[in-house]
Amino acid sequence: MYKILGKRQLAPQIYLMDIYAPRVAKSAKPGQFVIVKIDEKGERIPLTICDYDVEKETVTIVFQTLGKSTIEMADYQVGDYFSDFAGPLGEASEFIHEELPVLKQQRMVFVAGGVGTAPVYPQVKWLQQQGVQVDVIIGARNQEMVILENEMKALGATVYVTTDDGSYSRKGLVTDVLKELIDSGKAYDHVIAIGPMIMMKFVAKLTKEYGLKTTVSLNPIMVDGTGMCGACRITVGGQIKFACVDGPEFDGHLIDFDEAMRRQAMYKTEEGQSLLAVEK
Ligand code: NAD
Ligand code: FES
Repeated sequence: MYKILGKRQLAPQIYLMDIYAPRVAKSAKPGQFVIVKIDEKGERIPLTICDYDVEKETVTIVFQTLGKSTIEMADYQVGDYFSDFAGPLGEASEFIHEELPVLKQQRMVFVAGGVGTAPVYPQVKWLQQQGVQVDVIIGARNQEMVILENEMKALGATVYVTTDDGSYSRKGLVTDVLKELIDSGKAYDHVIAIGPMIMMKFVAKLTKEYGLKTTVSLNPIMVDGTGMCGACRITVGGQIKFACVDGPEFDGHLIDFDEAMRRQAMYKTEEGQSLLAVEK
């Protein structure tokens, strides 16, 4: 059983929880994810790790209440337990394997969209702690949906915020900011984009025009998280891959985003039906 040690609402429908999970905390790396089951009968919910603390033996997760299971999850309070917390799963971010002097030469920019800002946080934290200075572009629908801006700044990263409606900072999409930064002379070597699939598709389209290396983190529908069920199948460079074991990070220029988005939409009806059942 995995005890909830902390809970905080970051934005409407977005929650952060610190979970006591010593084994996961000890081996977690930036870029990896966990699969949470709230109780024995619960659905398996894949969530990217937002932070981990080896000393406190905790793992931080951030989730949005989008369906039946995440709405139930948000009802859990400090002191409650989740029945299962499997992980860390997936491959860690590629950059952690690079030599530090090489990494320090690289100019990296993270593009974080909405809830996708949460999985960007541990990557930025890891890099800043190694002395690698990075830029972060955070995009959100409006001011109240901007998350982890101050936490990202506290790490020392240079943060640009944009909102779709212009209610905070500047108005526009993350791709507008990225284009402006590149055109203004920021000579980035590596773009890492995490957020809604449509955002990652358009970031990859833009960076392809500039010939910029681009990594994206996919979160397709997952069931077992072990490469057995095929639910998270995606096509990368014409080859079939499974996001749970081969990813979740991939070369953004090789992903068949349209197929990935079609597969994500396939389950909408079932999710909708579960949601209606819980709301009755
Ligand atoms: P959102 O729809 O509010 O979008 C966030 C930002 O993405 C926007 O503010 C905008 O700047 C940018 N964006 C959106 N559409 C764009 C487009 N067409 N072109 C350029 N930029 C665009 O995001 P949300 O509702 O918080 O996101 C939820 C989604 O994020 C869910 O689908 C969830 O699955 C996904 N998510 C992904 C990960 C991951 O690991 N990849 C993690 C958490 C959440
Ligand atoms: Fe089953 Fe990836 S979740 S193969």
